[in-house]
Amino acid sequence: MNTLDAQYWQNRYQHNDTPWDANSITTPIKHFIDTYVANHCDKQSPILLPGAGTAHEAEYLHRQGYENVWVMDIAPEPLEAFRQRVPDFPEEHLLQADFFEFEKSDFFALIIEQTFFCALQPELRRRYAQKMQTLLRKEGILAGLLFCFPLDKTGEPPFGGSIDEYQQTFEPHFHIQTLAPCYNSIKPRAEKELFAILRSRG
Ligand SMILES: C[S@@+](CC[C@H](N)C(=O)[O-])C[C@H]1O[C@@H](n2cnc3c(N)ncnc32)[C@H](O)[C@@H]1O
Repeated sequence: MNTLDAQYWQNRYQHNDTPWDANSITTPIKHFIDTYVANHCDKQSPILLPGAGTAHEAEYLHRQGYENVWVMDIAPEPLEAFRQRVPDFPEEHLLQADFFEFEKSDFFALIIEQTFFCALQPELRRRYAQKMQTLLRKEGILAGLLFCFPLDKTGEPPFGGSIDEYQQTFEPHFHIQTLAPCYNSIKPRAEKELFAILRSRG
């Protein structure tokens, strides 16, 4: 299998081999922002989108007046595309970094997941859950989409999983508030996604 490092992802962006990019905000994340985020966060709440790619979700939050949105990706190409598309987004909140090396503890109120978890080698899942807990404030929320097709460890991403497996991965670090089939996925992902709302154990 390929090493899923910065070069791998940069190459995929450079070759326009980005089938995950929905080219606009996806319906489940938009609905979550319009309802849950609107009711639970204020416009200054620190919100992170890790492995954000071209970050249409961050653009939406920014346009809705959320002032403390952070976009992170290991590959420079999608961040540059975002910079061109959203020139008024604060440059200091655009981070080209490896999620696992990112040092910011107890900071974020909310982290939004979309096709980042599934892009990582499955053996990193425990570290992902641990790192998310470290980045979040006490009672902070990790929310978003997880694929629910079988995990094939030999192939290329996206890597799937099941509710049972995700419960085992996240329960040591999070109270599971929601982990259920997603009813409003974009068409190509219909019936392949779960929506998760996980509250950090602090
Ligand atoms: C499948 S893409 C998803 C992009 C975006 N979330 C979306 O929905 O369009 C996975 C993204 O994670 C980024 N990535 C992979 N490993 C990473 C890491 N260790 N730290 C930060 N970003 C990473 C890749 O560069 C890529 O942009």
